[in-house]
Amino acid sequence: MGSKMPTALVILAAGKGTRMNSDLPKVLHTLAGAPLLAHAMRADTDAEKVVIVAGHGAEQVAKSAHLYNPDAEIVLQTEQLGTGHAVGVARDTLAGFEGDVVVLYGDTPFISPETLREMQSARGRGHDVVVLGFEAQDPGRYGRLIEGTDDRLAAIVEAKEATEEQLAVTLCNSGVVCADAAQLFDLVGEIENNNAAEEYYLTDIVEIANAAGLSCTAVTCPEAETLGINSRAQLAEAEAAFQARARVAAMENGATLTAPDTVFFAFDTVIGRDVLIGPNVVFGPETTIESGVEIRAFCHLEGCHISEGAIIGPFARLRPGAEIGEDARIGNFVEVKNARLSIGAKVNHLSYIGDADIGQAANIGAGTITCNYDGVMKHKTVIGARAFIGSNTSIIAPVTIGEDAMTASGTVVTKDVPDEALAISRTPMVNKPGLATRIKNNLRAIKARKDKG
Ligand code: UD1
Ligand code: MG
Repeated sequence: MGSKMPTALVILAAGKGTRMNSDLPKVLHTLAGAPLLAHAMRADTDAEKVVIVAGHGAEQVAKSAHLYNPDAEIVLQTEQLGTGHAVGVARDTLAGFEGDVVVLYGDTPFISPETLREMQSARGRGHDVVVLGFEAQDPGRYGRLIEGTDDRLAAIVEAKEATEEQLAVTLCNSGVVCADAAQLFDLVGEIENNNAAEEYYLTDIVEIANAAGLSCTAVTCPEAETLGINSRAQLAEAEAAFQARARVAAMENGATLTAPDTVFFAFDTVIGRDVLIGPNVVFGPETTIESGVEIRAFCHLEGCHISEGAIIGPFARLRPGAEIGEDARIGNFVEVKNARLSIGAKVNHLSYIGDADIGQAANIGAGTITCNYDGVMKHKTVIGARAFIGSNTSIIAPVTIGEDAMTASGTVVTKDVPDEALAISRTPMVNKPGLATRIKNNLRAIKARKDKG
C-alpha cells in the first residue's frame, strides 16, 4: 500500500439527461435529500480539489455544487463530445496539480470511499491507470473490460465497437478512472474520435497507455455501487436502495425501527443508540438525533437537533433550526421552526413555535401560537424557565415572557410579561340566567313561521 496521494475529483456532469424528461439538470435531481451530484462528491470528501464538468444547466449545477463544497470548481463543456473530451475540459483547471485524478460521473451516486481507496492502492502497487469494473448482470451497452496478462487491463471496448466475442465479456466499465493528473491529461490529449459514435471515448486511454508502455489494471466493486441514474424510475430504484441500506445501518447502530420500510432517512441523518423510531417517520437533511430519543409515528424532521431523552410526536413537524433540549416533549400536531427548547420544556399539543427561545421546564399549552411574522419581517419570542403558557395563547413577537410567569388561557400577548407575573387579556365573563333557553325558543319560533309560509 502506497501512502495516499493528493487527489482531485473530476466529476462529469455535462450531459442533458434526456430520459429524465425534466427542466432540471439530471445531476440535480435529489436522492435521500441531496442532489445526485452531492452524492458523487461524497465519494471522496478529502479530495484536495473538486472539478465539475458542467454543460446543460451549468449555472444551476454550479450553485448547487457550491452549497456542498464552496471550493468546487466548475468548468464548462459547451458541446458534449464524449467522456474523453469532458475530462480534457478540466485540464487547465488542474494544471500544475501534483497528485491523482479520479474521474467520476455526476449521475452515479453510490461509489464508496472504500472503493476509491482500493483504486488508489492499486496505483500504489505501480499501475499507471486504474479502472473501476464490475460484473454486470446484464452487460448490455456497458463498455467491456478486456483483460491482459497477470492483473493487467488490455483495453476497454465500447459495446458499439465490440466484436461478438468481446460482447460476451461480463466484466464491465463503471466509468471511474484513476491516474496521475499530468499523465491522465497527456493520455486524454491523444484520444481521437474515429469511432461509430464520433465521440472522444475516455475509455481509449487504456490502449493508448498500454501502447506507451504504461501499466493499466482494473479493480472491481459490487454492481450496486455503479448504479447510474438515467430515468425517474432508476432514481426511485436508487432511492429504495439507499433507504434499504440506511435502515439496516440505523438498526446496526442501535436504533429500533418498528416498521423499517416506512422510515425514510436523508443522506446525512445521524441517529444515536437506543433511539426508537415509530412507523412513517421522514427525515430531511441535516438532522441529528441523540441517544435515547423516541420519535413516535408520523413525524417529519429536517434541519434539527434532538437531545437525549426527548420524545417527539406522534404527528410532529420539526423544521430547520429546531433545537430540542434533553427530555423535552413535542407532542401531536406541533410545528417547531428556528426555535430552541431547553431541558424538559413541553409543547404537547397543536402549537406553532417559530423563532423562539423556550426556557427550561416551560410548559406551552395546547394551541399556543408564536405570531412571528408580520407579513414582512420575522420576530423573536422569548419564554423564560418554568413559564406556564395557557392554552390558546397568541404571542405577538417580538416579546419576552419572564421566568415563572403565566399567561391565562386565550390571552393575546402584545407586550413583555415580567417574571412571575400573570398575563391575562379577556373580556370578563358573565352569566345571563335563562338566556340560552330564551334564544333557542325564539329561533324555533322563527323557523316554524318560515316553514309554514
Ligand atoms: C460510459 C463509458 C462506458 C461505461 C459506462 C458506464 C465511455 C466512452 N463509455 O458510457 O464504458 O460502461 O459509461 O455507465 O466513457 N458526459 C459529459 N460530457 C460528455 C459525455 C458524457 O459530461 O461529453 C457525462 C454524462 O453526463 C454522464 C457520463 O459522462 O454522466 C457518462 O456519459 P454517458 O454518455 O452516459 O456514457 P455511456 O455511453 O453510458
Ligand atoms: Mg451512461
